Amino acid sequence: MNIKIAASILSADFSQMGEAVKKLERAGADIIHCDVMDGSFVQPITFGGQMVKNIRPLTKLPLDVHLMTEHPKTQIKFFAEAGADIITVHYEACSKISGGYLRETLLLIKSYGIKCGVVVNPDTDVEKVFDVFDICDMLLVMSVFPGYGGQKFMPSAMEQLKKARARALSVGRGDMDIEVDGGISAENAASVAAAGANVLVAGSSIFRSADMAVAISAMRG
Ligand code: DX5
Ligand code: ZN
Repeated sequence: MNIKIAASILSADFSQMGEAVKKLERAGADIIHCDVMDGSFVQPITFGGQMVKNIRPLTKLPLDVHLMTEHPKTQIKFFAEAGADIITVHYEACSKISGGYLRETLLLIKSYGIKCGVVVNPDTDVEKVFDVFDICDMLLVMSVFPGYGGQKFMPSAMEQLKKARARALSVGRGDMDIEVDGGISAENAASVAAAGANVLVAGSSIFRSADMAVAISAMRG
C-alpha cells in the first residue's frame, strides 16, 4: 500500500493555523490530522468544529479528525457538518458506555457520507476492536498515550500494527487503512510501515524540521 503522511496541526502555532495548513499542503502532506481534545478524556483542550470549518476552504487535502473526547457520539454532527472527511473515535471513550455504543457511533459517522475509524490506546489490545473491522475505513493505533505532541514512540505499537494488519487481511479487509500516531519520524517510518501501517501521523517531526517538504518525503520514502 502507498504510504500517506497525515500532518498533525497540534504542533502548529494556533494563531497562524491557516498558513500552517497551506504550508503543509505545499510541503506534500497527504492528509491534515486534526487533534480534538476535550479536557476530560485527555487533559488538554485544543479546538472544536469551528477550527475544522475554518480550515476546510483552505486546503484540498482530506481532514482527518481524531476525537479525543468523552461521549464522541454527541460530537459527530458538529465535525461532519464542519467538513471532516474522516472521524475517528476512541474505543476507550466508547467502552465505558454499554449497548453497542462504538458500532452505533461508527455507523452515525458513516451516515454523514464520510469515513469512520476506531482508535486504540497503547494499553488497549487491538483485538478488542476486531469486531468492528467490518465497518471501519481506518484503524488508528496510538504509539503514545494521547494528549500531547512530542512524546517518544512506544515500540509496543509494532505488535499492535502487525496483529491488526494480519486480521484485516484475514477477514478480507486488506483495503482498510491502518494509521499510527505518536512519535513518528523518518527514523521509525519504515519500520511502522513494514509492521502494517499505511497512514503515518506526524506533528513535531514535521514542525521542528528545517524543511517540512524534506521531512515529509523522508518519512514517505
Ligand atoms: C497526540 C496526538 C498526536 C500528536 C502527534 O495525542 O494524537 O496526533 O499530534 O504528535 P507527534 O508527532 O509530535 O508525536
Ligand atoms: Zn492524533
